[in-house]
Amino acid sequence: MRRRLTILGSTGSIGRQALDVVSRYPDRFELVGLSAGNDARALALQAAEFTPEYIALESGDTGPLEGLTAEVLAGPGSAGRLAGAPSDVVLNGIVGFAGLAATVGALQAGNRVALANKESLVAAGEWVMDLAANNRIIPVDSEHSAIFQCLEGRRQEEIAGILLTASGGPFYAFEKARIVEAGPEDALRHPTWRMGRKITIDSATMMNKGLEVIEAHHLFGVRFEDVRVVVHRQSVVHGGALFEDGSVVLHAALPDMRLPIAFGLIYPERVDVGAEPVPFDGVTWSFEEPRNDVFRCLPLAVEAGRAGGAYPVALNAANEVAVEAFLDGRIRFLHIADVIEEVLEVVPDFGMMQSMEAIVTVDGWARDEARRRANGDSR
Ligand SMILES: NC(=O)c1ccc[n+]([C@@H]2O[C@H](COP(=O)([O-])OP(=O)(O)OC[C@H]3O[C@@H](n4cnc5c(N)ncnc54)[C@H](OP(=O)(O)O)[C@@H]3O)[C@@H](O)[C@H]2O)c1
Repeated sequence: MRRRLTILGSTGSIGRQALDVVSRYPDRFELVGLSAGNDARALALQAAEFTPEYIALESGDTGPLEGLTAEVLAGPGSAGRLAGAPSDVVLNGIVGFAGLAATVGALQAGNRVALANKESLVAAGEWVMDLAANNRIIPVDSEHSAIFQCLEGRRQEEIAGILLTASGGPFYAFEKARIVEAGPEDALRHPTWRMGRKITIDSATMMNKGLEVIEAHHLFGVRFEDVRVVVHRQSVVHGGALFEDGSVVLHAALPDMRLPIAFGLIYPERVDVGAEPVPFDGVTWSFEEPRNDVFRCLPLAVEAGRAGGAYPVALNAANEVAVEAFLDGRIRFLHIADVIEEVLEVVPDFGMMQSMEAIVTVDGWARDEARRRANGDSR
């Protein structure tokens, strides 16, 4: 049976690698839709090659999409509308908070979601997991895919915790004085993964791991204190399950996102995506504690996750604004954590986060607060 597949964010790092998987197994997929933010030219080329039924462009000029056979959805909310088209799997590879509406749209329509957009679970974890109850989310984040595979077939009461590995990013071994000087081009040089710009900066600050702790808490129903983060420079062990009897099941693979993407698309089967096998001859795997005193985004995220409610929404929004400001040269690398911390310190009581309206309100408030701080207005 061919799987009806929608790829949201098809022009990004996750989306392109998903299309690589599709092109290896054209008989296994029927493409329902592809979507992009504003790169209409790249979307048009993909649509001409993969002939989906629909294409969606969130913003920008639709000119390059003219003359294609696919039906065009355009304008704000178009990815969310496409997410609701009947599909066996919707891969959400949109970056940032912008991906939440699509996760919600896909789940409300009864579609299964292969989820790369971790920000959906950070901003709206409880709500999204409620919506996902009958049409599971298959995680695509490599660590969560690994943990998902380690936990398969286990009973919740056997599980003592989960292990999340972090590469540590490009600055892990640097003295603080050197990190202070780091510019965008240094932070964009990730040691083991090639990814989009936002997640690459999140990896350098360790915010990526913080977002992933919150993501893991919601996906696997584990308490924050039972999520163990370790720095593993080789990025070969992606995650693990810690059991009550003291044993640990780890998942290993060379860093290649096509593996968790294919797993999310073809689950429960596995297919060869051309990934290199894990070597065992004379290799060393190391595990170290994160440097939370220098990379403060990780503890800030865990704290916001524990506090719940509006805090993780505000954390995520402030981070997106601070990362943009760093990439634009408006703030220094270590100020990303300062901006986020200052916003978290002034979060008012916003009540329950069980609707898009409530979440969007907090997101907007936190963006304004973070922007003022990143622009130096409140310093
Ligand atoms: N890359 C990885 O290896 C990796 C690994 C694990 C998890 N993830 C997660 O996967 C998600 C995507 O990451 P990425 O690295 O693939 O990002 P990316 O390369 O920046 O791609 C982002 C995609 O989202 C689209 N997009 C941007 N803003 C949008 C908006 N407002 N509305 C609709 N679509 C929009 C972009 O379209 P345009 O091309 O038109 O801008 C692009 O197709 C993130 O949540 C990230 O944390 C990524």
